[in-house]
Amino acid sequence: MIDSQKLKTLLSIYKEAGVDEVTSPVTHNRFQEIEDTLVLPLPSLEEKKVPSIAPLVSPKTAHGAASVSAQSAQNLEELKAALLAFEGCALKYTATNLVFGDGNPKARVMLIGEAPGADEDRQGLPFVGQSGQLLDKMLATIGLTREIFYITNIIPWRPPGNRQPTPAEAEACLPFVKRHIDLVSPDFLILVGGTATKTLLGGRDGIMRLRGAWKDYTSEAGKKMKVMAIFHPAYLLRSPGQKREVWLDLIKIKHSLIEAKVELRRSL
Ligand code: URA
Repeated sequence: MIDSQKLKTLLSIYKEAGVDEVTSPVTHNRFQEIEDTLVLPLPSLEEKKVPSIAPLVSPKTAHGAASVSAQSAQNLEELKAALLAFEGCALKYTATNLVFGDGNPKARVMLIGEAPGADEDRQGLPFVGQSGQLLDKMLATIGLTREIFYITNIIPWRPPGNRQPTPAEAEACLPFVKRHIDLVSPDFLILVGGTATKTLLGGRDGIMRLRGAWKDYTSEAGKKMKVMAIFHPAYLLRSPGQKREVWLDLIKIKHSLIEAKVELRRSL
């Protein structure tokens, strides 16, 4: 009989390591499963899901492989297939689903966030959890809905325990994000939060300084677009006092979109 204190300690160790989801009502002995697959005639990977281990890939190699793979994608389906086959980001091995993108693939407005959380990982769609719902509400106030904009993340796999992605993980996935931008080819890019801002704009300034002002951005393929950083909705949930700033940024975005004749829904 395990005493409850030991059980509590064990659960907190799991939680700190990012194991914070129950994915099966029964326990699995993975070592036994591996042994079973070794004594039976070897099935193909499609027939039997063998627990997989992330290969060790250096950040430089990962970035190089990502660049080649992303550049070869000629449309969003091919880009998604390239990401599914990509081995350079270990987060793939702890995530349930690839979270690729959502919304209008021909949008003139594209949003880029940080990385999926637990709800996004479960559903395979970006920004569907609590912070996504807040973001949708904020955007709806200026007439932007998912029929009008397109949304993705810097990292397409959930980091365990919702930790911030490391710079190496962001670097490994960056060629895919850049190709994603070129395949959607928007006129306006909105970077949601510090990680997307730092990863795509580089430089020393953080979100506090950069938010709320349009900047020029030239995509990998040479298309010129306007880019603005806004606070991440998860930050607004923690610091509701900052909602005033985001509201001012949204008004600025709305004016620019109207000026550029982007079709908007009537505000709610
Ligand atoms: N936060 C993000 O940055 N992206 C998501 O998809 C969900 C939460």
